Amino acid sequence: MRTYKTIRHLQNRLDRYRKEGKSIGFVPTMGALHQGHISLIEQSNKKSDITVCSIFVNPTQFNVKEDLDKYPRTEVQDAEMLKKAGCDILFLPTENVIYPPNQDNSYHVDFGDLEKVMEGAHRPGHFAGVAQVLKRFLDIVNPSAMYMGQKDYQQFTIVRALLKHLKSKTKLVMGETVREADGLAMSSRNVRLTKKERSIAPLISKALFDAKSKLGKKSIAKIKKEALEQLDIPEFRVEYFEIADGISLQAIKSLDGVKTAVACTVVHLGKVRLIDNVILK
Ligand code: PAJ
Repeated sequence: MRTYKTIRHLQNRLDRYRKEGKSIGFVPTMGALHQGHISLIEQSNKKSDITVCSIFVNPTQFNVKEDLDKYPRTEVQDAEMLKKAGCDILFLPTENVIYPPNQDNSYHVDFGDLEKVMEGAHRPGHFAGVAQVLKRFLDIVNPSAMYMGQKDYQQFTIVRALLKHLKSKTKLVMGETVREADGLAMSSRNVRLTKKERSIAPLISKALFDAKSKLGKKSIAKIKKEALEQLDIPEFRVEYFEIADGISLQAIKSLDGVKTAVACTVVHLGKVRLIDNVILK
């Protein structure tokens, strides 16, 4: 695996691969890698000739400074994991490389109703930051395919809209959420949970999977109400639990005319904000 910190060196190498007719798969990350990230690398390895992974903790997508400051940084371990997984290129830019101080780095796309709900409503500016950094990465890497996780379902939907807006040729591929044995969705933030918190965290995915098992048997309103009851324990602070149309992300009241539906939640446990979802249909 080769590591590049500058755009010029990375692009020289990628241009050579492209001249050889090789396809380039790209996995953008913020590091503190776990098996969820690695599963995306593995998918890219299978489908693309060359896999590029970026690690960049993007400051513009954090709306809470403490979350940015406390974001785990485990570069050496990350590089080891990527090497083992067969990643070809690690791109490790600094903030000045991604947002050059002498350049206008602003970028804005109106995602309409997609960004007005759930994460968009609760983390103002978050998706603007995600779109800004991914536009930059897409310009730099110009991949044939980009691999992103279902774990951040709304982010995936926003990125699909971004690629459409850019009329991009990059194919977007969704990787399934990788979970711990007890159901907790893997997340870089899980290491910040205390032992006690870690032991109750799987109740979040349980509520989501229970909701799925009730689909078609109970009304959406009842399913949502019961999920909220399950999550109503003193340790949890539920930010939202929504059952939404899987394409428009707007909350639904019934499954009539709905092709895909998804249950999405965010729960605060101690100092950690945990996000998860399950595709219902
Ligand atoms: P990060 O949270 O590091 O996630 C990088 C990618 O890994 C995302 O596509 C995310 O959905 C995926 N991922 C995270 N946990 C996963 C899991 N348990 N199973 C499967 N995939 C998982 O998402 C970001 O970084 C940033 O917003 C980024 C896209 C890099 C832009 O800065």
